[in-house]
This record gives sequence, C-alpha cells and structure tokens, in this order.
Amino acid sequence: MSIMQYSKGTGVNENWLVEESAFDSRYLGKCEAIFCQGNGYMGVRAALEEEYVSETRNMFVTGTFNKFHDTEVTELPNFPDVTKIIFQINGKVFSLDQGTIHHYERVLNIKNGEVTRIVDWESKDGERIEFKFLRTVSMKDEHVIASKVELKPISGDIALKIISGIDGTVSNSGSQHFAEGSKRLYDFTYLEMVSETIESKVTAAIHTAHRFYLNGEEVKVTTLPVIGRREIKINASIELKKDQVLVLEKISTVHTTRDLVYDGMEAEKSIKSVKVDGKKNIEEAFALGYDKILCESAQAWEEIWNQEDIQIDSVNPFDQLAMRFGIYHLNIMVKKDDNRVGIGAKALSGEGYKGHSFWDTEVFILPYYLMTQPKTARTLLEYRYKNLYGARLKAKEQGYEGAMYPWESAWIDDGEVTPLWGAADVVTGETLKILTGIIEQHITADIAFAVWQYYIVTRDEEFMNLYGYEMIMDTARFWASRLEWNEAKNQYEINDVIGPDEYKEHVNNNVYTNYLAYYNMNLALELIGKIRENNTEVYDRINGLFSLTKLEEDLGDKLPKLYLPQPDKETGIIPQFDGYFDLKYIDLTKYKQSSIVGTIYNDYNMEQINEFQVLKQGDLVVLLYLLDDLFDAETKRKNYMYYEERTLHDSSLSKSTHSVLANDLGLHEDAYHFFVGASSIDLGEEMKSSDAGIHSASMGGIWQSAVLGFGGVRVVGQQLRIAPSLPKEWNSLSFRVVWRGTPLKVTVTKETVSITNLSHAVEILVYDEVVDLEKNATFTTKVRG
Ligand code: BGC
Repeated sequence: MSIMQYSKGTGVNENWLVEESAFDSRYLGKCEAIFCQGNGYMGVRAALEEEYVSETRNMFVTGTFNKFHDTEVTELPNFPDVTKIIFQINGKVFSLDQGTIHHYERVLNIKNGEVTRIVDWESKDGERIEFKFLRTVSMKDEHVIASKVELKPISGDIALKIISGIDGTVSNSGSQHFAEGSKRLYDFTYLEMVSETIESKVTAAIHTAHRFYLNGEEVKVTTLPVIGRREIKINASIELKKDQVLVLEKISTVHTTRDLVYDGMEAEKSIKSVKVDGKKNIEEAFALGYDKILCESAQAWEEIWNQEDIQIDSVNPFDQLAMRFGIYHLNIMVKKDDNRVGIGAKALSGEGYKGHSFWDTEVFILPYYLMTQPKTARTLLEYRYKNLYGARLKAKEQGYEGAMYPWESAWIDDGEVTPLWGAADVVTGETLKILTGIIEQHITADIAFAVWQYYIVTRDEEFMNLYGYEMIMDTARFWASRLEWNEAKNQYEINDVIGPDEYKEHVNNNVYTNYLAYYNMNLALELIGKIRENNTEVYDRINGLFSLTKLEEDLGDKLPKLYLPQPDKETGIIPQFDGYFDLKYIDLTKYKQSSIVGTIYNDYNMEQINEFQVLKQGDLVVLLYLLDDLFDAETKRKNYMYYEERTLHDSSLSKSTHSVLANDLGLHEDAYHFFVGASSIDLGEEMKSSDAGIHSASMGGIWQSAVLGFGGVRVVGQQLRIAPSLPKEWNSLSFRVVWRGTPLKVTVTKETVSITNLSHAVEILVYDEVVDLEKNATFTTKVRG
C-alpha cells in the first residue's frame, strides 16, 4: 500500500515535490520522517498538528545528548514540542480518524523546505472545514520554527477552540530526559519553558507566540493561558461564521546551553543567556511573521541549491526527485560550523540509533561533503579528532594502545555508547546482546581512510598538521597493538570481529577489517618518515604524545606479516573471513523478495544465521569500492556476483555501494537497479521503512551512486578521475565537484562529457586521459562505454 506520489513535472526544473496523497494513521511514521524539516541545528519531525495515538512527535537539537539512567546509553533527547495544535469544533476534537475526509494532500517542497497540507474535512455531525497547514524550520535562523494554519468553516458557523503551546511531556519512548523546569508568560504573548536535561545538564529555552487574523485582519482572540505540569499553552476561543477565514500563526524558537555561542561559558551565565537570547529571538521572529520567515528561509535554500543541485534527465522522473531528496536531507542533517557534533544514523529525524554517529558518516556521507563542501567535511573530521578522547578511552578499556574509535559515538568525550541489548532472539526468547560496540572495529580504519581522502582532495596541510597526522598515527597504533600472532601460520591476524556484514559475529580475519587495518597502518608508516623529514614541528608534537620511533618499528615489523585474504586459486573468490566457504548455502528468495529488512530474524536466531552463507551487506563489495586497485576487474566481477547472490541488502548502506561497484564493472543494469533501490529506501513506496527516522547513509549513498557511480568521479592515486557512463534510462546528468578548491561543473549526455573549470587551473584525469584544465576552460570528450 502506498500513499506516496512524486511530482513528475515537465522537466527537471519542476521536479521538487513529494506528496502524501491520502491520510492513513497506520503509516504516520513514513512522512513524519521523510518530510522532516531542519537546518543541522535542529530537526523537527513532520508530525501532524492534531494528535494521533500512533504518531511520533520529535524535535532533536544536535549535540544535546543525555543519559536517562545508568542502564541506558546516552541519546539525543526529544525536545519539548511546539508543533502540536489541537482544534475543537463545536466541542469535538478535530481528528482525521473520525468524520469524512473530502480532500487530503501533504507536500514537502524540497526547494524551499516548506511542508504544506490541505484538508477538507467533515465531522460526524456535518461541520465541514477547509484547513491549510504550513510549516517551516528556518534555514536562515537556525533557532526558528514557524507554523501557519488557515481554517474556513464552509457548512455553517462554528464555535472554535484552539489549544496550543509548548508540551514538555514528550519522551524518548518513555525515557523522560528533561526535568520539570520553569514556565512563564511574557506580555500575555510569549510563552516560555526553560528546562534542563537530567544528567548532562543542558538547559533548553523554548519560546512560542501566537497571532490570529480574521479575513485578513489581525484580531485579538480570547485566550486563556494555562500552565500545567511540563506544559504551557493557550486556550483560544472564537466564534467563526460560515466562510470566514481564520489564520493562526505560531512562531517558536529553541536555544540551548550547548549552542556553539555558549561554548566554554560558565554554566550559570549560559543559562541566563539562553533565556535572554531566546526571548529576544522570539520577539524578532514573531515580528517577522510566517511569510517573511518562509521567504528568508527559501532564500537560504536557494543559495544551497545554486551550488548543490544535481540534474538528472531520466525516463523515470523519480530519479531526479530522489537525487534532490537526498541532497535536501544531506543539508539538514549536519551543523556545518560545529566540530563538536557528528551526524546521527537517522540524522535528526527520529529516535532510531539514538542520534549516534557510525562509520556511516565517513564512508557513506562524508564523500558528498568532501566533493561539494570541503569545509563541512573538515568540520566533521574535526569532530572525530575531538572524539580521539573517547577512542583512546575505549582502546585502554579493551587493553589496547592508541585510538580505537567507538562503534557508536555521541558527545565528543563519551567514548563507546553502543547499547548492550537489542531485539528478541526468536529461538530462546531472550534479548540479543549487541556486540558491535565491542567487536565491530573497522570504523577505526574507516576514519583514518577518510582523513587521507580529505587530504588528497583538499591538500589542506593545516588540517593535517593540527589533526590528521595524529589521527592516522594513533589509529595505526591501535591496530598494531590489536594484531594477534599465529605461531603455526607465521602471520599476524585480526580475530574475533564483526565486519560490515553484521550477520556474522566472532569471525577471524574479516577481509574488510584486515585490508582496511593494513591500509591504516601502511599509511601511518609512510607518513611517519615523511613528516620526520619535512615537518619536524608536527613530528615532535606527536612524538611527544607517543613514540613514533617505536610505532615505526612496530609497523615495519608487523605489516609484512599481516594476513590479507587472497582469491581462491580455483574459483577466484576471496573468503569474507576464515571458514566462510564451509558455511551452509541457503535459499534466500523469500527474504530477498520481502520489502521489509531483517525478515530472516523471524525464522532464525543469530547463532543460526552465523552458520549460513547469508550477508546483511557485502564486505567485499565495500572493500573493492573503497580500495579499487586491490584486484583486477575479473576478480572483482566474480566476487561481486558471488557475494551479491548471498546478500540480503538488509542494511541501508548496501545498495548504493553495489550500484557504484556494478557501474565500475560495467554491469549497468545492476547499477541502475541498485540506484533505484537505494533511492527508494526512504522515498519509495514501502510505508514502514522510515518509522525510526530516515537513513542518513542512504542519502549519501544516493549521491554516491549518481556522482561516483554514473558520474565516474573517483580519487585515483593522488588524482581526480572523471569517467562517466550513464544508465540507459538517463539522457543526461550534471553535477558539480570541488577539487583542490576548484569547482568543476560536469555535464554528461549520452554522447559527450563536458567539464568546465570555474576557478584556478587544475590537472585531472578524464577516463585515462590527463587533462590540464585552465581557468574558465571547458574540456569536452566522447562518452566511453
Ligand atoms: C548497519 C551498519 C550501520 C548501522 C547504522 C546497521 O544496520 O549494518 O553498517 O552502521 O546500521 O546505520
């Protein structure tokens, strides 16, 4: 069942709208998440104004982590809500679960970030009302949320009551992160709630104000302020004549003591400041009103789109919309100027994964920023630098040296925050233990890999000197201490891990982990020598933290003896880990056909799944995509085919990597199939996939499939290579990438590739041709197959 519709438009320029075309309270989660609005500072889930039992009303502010109880891990708390507005018509509550819906449409306009809903509804007693709801979370002023409701009774006069304000009774599935706090009303207009998270002591100041217009004229409406437990609201009453139009504007602001401006400020002072600044901000925003707030926000969006838009002329207009949908979310999930916060796996759009950052950021999301907004990429990597504190803590706790990055990260100095217990075991009935926080370790190398990619793309020496070298060295130090010597085989190994494929636990010599760890250590070894010669200041600083001579010796000794799984001589298949080929092959058709992920868990428990040749996502596929010169094309192709057959794509990270690799291997149909699959994870017709929030990695994945896959953009050695090959469904693709500070505009049609240099001269590879692109010059060549 789907109630999703996608604007077809007559050309790419019109293709910006995602529509929910009917109301069904069973599927509220879908559009709450995918229509989520925000600006990186906060994310506001698109819960409807009126209340429903099955709704999830969420507002998250980046970095405000709190731990509810010792038995729980730290998570992003759900903030007091300002989106709810209750309407009573002649004493009865407006709810689409009752009465008749004559018309319903809700649209996310990706271009300006506004969500609008038009409803024509008739109560059980025959009162018919036309509603129009509008909501914006400002891209211009990150603290501001604005709503507007237009309401017109069309069947007769009505007595209307509106209840609206700030609701602090929200929780994260029952965990109440905010204390009662204080509430007050200023000038009989501005409602204020100030409350503090119970453990992390983040104070949030929420302000809200309401204004009414009747037939276009501002009117005073009889309102009764109500202050109750964890709530402050107004009860407004008004008699409306048939066909009169009432407009309600509700403007709100959110400030917290975690905001960047208060960083380092003494607690008492910052608490005072959030109140004062919040109050000032609500007065200004309220004076602007909804339309101006929308207009300013739309302008900020326009600036983003001028830089970021990617145009796809496809026989399936969905492709264009999906691309923009991905870019929309990529631009609201991160606070681009704050290096104390990362990106949650569900961004700021839902409780799923608790706001924690995973390898999703470095491997799936960062490439987008790296190639389009390198400053944001730097900020994200600086977050990981600050996160070294937690990484060193984790290494120590587990008995290793160096920096072992947490599998899940929250606040910069939290350390590992992966919860210990997860879903039910269908065989034993017990709760499954989550082992990723202990043995899924590849993230440490993924971060080092991302640091070096950043350097290759930007040549940002300052970043490397301040942060990058230290990160690469200290992560290598972890791996060196992590290796285990196998006397019988005369080799170093990495045993008892989980690779990216989480359907396999406690494996030895996971192919992805071993190769990435090797990459990390090898890189450090090369760089130690380099910085000792050319960069003594940085060498001495890092050497002051831990001995680089010892690290160099250690790496030099261990690296050549690290076991790296090789293709089987007969089949050419590389084992995903020791003993993979001995596992049982099972028919996966049933699970592959399911539109819901993880259905294998309905039939088997983890112990049983561990015994099958079934993959959640392909370890080899990610490896061959990241380190694309490890094996020849034939080996890659064989391995792709072999493992794909066994992969359920039960991770949202899986399809986009398959798309990129399939394209590299000339498997164009697969590449397009997986592009559409990746694009459909949130935006597609499966109505339950996004309940816990959108999949941030998949947003990066859509971009990767288009630009790195079909656009053929890749870092090869130290060079940028552009080698496009479009799927047969696409007539053209145009995008922008930034290489060493120079924006390049790339346009690909069925016949030609044109690259225009918008800044200083650079050398790039187009397919295998070295091209010197002068400033403002355009290079055009034929598309190769
Ligand atoms: C995937 C991980 C991913 C995590 C967060 C899991 O289902 O297997 O690779 O990091 O989700 O998105």
